[in-house]
Amino acid sequence: MKISFGKISTFSRKERTVVKEISNIAFRLHRKAYLVGGFVRDLFLGKDNRDLDCVINGDVLDFALPLARKFSGKFSENKKFRTAKVDFGSFSVDFAQVRRENYPESGALPQVSQGSFEDDIFRRDFTINAIYISLNRKDFGKVLCRRCVEDLEKGLIRIFHRRSFLDDPTRIIRAVRFSSRLGFKMEPLTLRSLKEAVKDGALSKISSFRIKREIFLLLKETDVVKPVRKLFALGILKSILPEVKKIDFGQLSYSRKILHEFYLYLARDFNVPLYYILVISKGLSLPSRRSICQRLSFSRMEEKALLCDFRKIRRIVGYIKKGTRNWTFLADEFSEEVILFIASLLPPSVEYRRKIVEYFTSVKFKKTFHTNRELLRMGVPAEKLGGVNKILLKYRRENRIKNRLEEYDFLRKKFLS
Ligand code: CTP
Repeated sequence: MKISFGKISTFSRKERTVVKEISNIAFRLHRKAYLVGGFVRDLFLGKDNRDLDCVINGDVLDFALPLARKFSGKFSENKKFRTAKVDFGSFSVDFAQVRRENYPESGALPQVSQGSFEDDIFRRDFTINAIYISLNRKDFGKVLCRRCVEDLEKGLIRIFHRRSFLDDPTRIIRAVRFSSRLGFKMEPLTLRSLKEAVKDGALSKISSFRIKREIFLLLKETDVVKPVRKLFALGILKSILPEVKKIDFGQLSYSRKILHEFYLYLARDFNVPLYYILVISKGLSLPSRRSICQRLSFSRMEEKALLCDFRKIRRIVGYIKKGTRNWTFLADEFSEEVILFIASLLPPSVEYRRKIVEYFTSVKFKKTFHTNRELLRMGVPAEKLGGVNKILLKYRRENRIKNRLEEYDFLRKKFLS
C-alpha cells in the first residue's frame, strides 16, 4: 500500500513541500524518516490534522534545524526526550528519534534510549497510532504495519503488549478518548488489560500534572458526554476523583449545548475543561472540591473558580430568573467559566441567555469613570468609598450615568454637597 501525497486534498502546497524536503534531507544524510502517529491515523480517516509527527534515526536536529531555516519555521527542542518541533503557523512538524522506552516502574516517565524502527512501533500506545508512512526515496509513501491499518479499518483500539497500561497509565484515559472520539471499540484483551490496570490502582501512580493533562484533553473533545460516560462506567473517574460519586449526564449534556451556543455568540476562548469540572462538581462540598484541585494540579485561577461560593451562584441564578439587575455586581468576582456555569444552571430561555451575553459583551466592562484616588481627592471619606463605588457602578450599568461629567455631577449632588 502506498500513499500519494499529491492526492491528499487536505494537504497544503507548503505541507507537501516540507514533506518532500524531509525526504531530501534523509536521502542526503543516508538516514530514514517516517510519518506516524495521530496525523497518519487521521489521514486514513479523512480527518484534518495539522500536527505532523515524524520519526527518524539519528539526531533530530539534523532535520529540524535546516527545515526551520529554509521555510522560516519556529524551532524548539526537548533535549531529555531528544525531540524537536518546527512550527510553521498553519501546521507543525514534531521530530522524534526512533527509540526504545523502558519504564523503571509503573507510571514513571520512560527511560529513553536509541532503538530500531521495530522498537519504535512497540513503544507506542495503540496500533491505530502506529501506522508509518515512509518518506524515504526508495519507497516514498509506502505504508508500514499492515496489522495497524487493519485495526483502523475495523475500528479497534488495541495495545501492543499486556504491560502497556501499567507502563503508562495515561493510556487508560487516552484509550477512552480515542474510542469515544472515533466511535471505536476496545479489542477484548485491551479492554481486559485496561480494567485490570484500573483495578490495580495504576492511575494513582502518575503525577497530578500528567493526569490533569490527559483529563483536560479528554474534556476538550467535541462530544464530551461520551468519554465522561465511559470514564464513569469503567471506574476510571472513581480512581482519579473519588469525590465524584455520581454524574448528572442530562445536566452535562445541557451544559455542552450551552457552551457551544456561547462559543457562537461570543467567539472567545474559555477554559473548557474547567467549565466541565465545575458542572461535574456541582453539589460537592468545599473539601471535596479542594481535593479535586490538588489531584488535578490546578492553577491558582482554576482553583479560585472551582472553590467559588455555590450559595452566591444560587443567589445569582435566582436574581436572573426574577429579573433583578443586581446580579451583575455579584457576578463580577467570578471568572468567565463560572459565569458560563451559571448559564448552564438556568432553564433554556432566550431571555436568560441574552442577559448573560450582554454581561459578557458590555456590562462587565462598564466601570466607574472616577478612580478611588480621584474620589478621595474630591473629598469622599475613605470609609464610604465602597458604598459610593457600588452606587456609581449601578447607575453606570443602568445607563443613568453615561459619561465622566454626568458622574461628576451626580457625585457632587449626592455625596459632596
Ligand atoms: N504516544 C504514545 N503514548 C502516549 C502518548 C503518545 O505512544 N502516552 C504516541 C502515539 O503514537 C501518538 C503519538 O505519540 O499517536 C503522538 O501523541 P499525541 O500528539 O499526544 O497524540 P495524537 O495521536 O497526535 O492525538 P491527538 O489527535 O489527540 O493530538
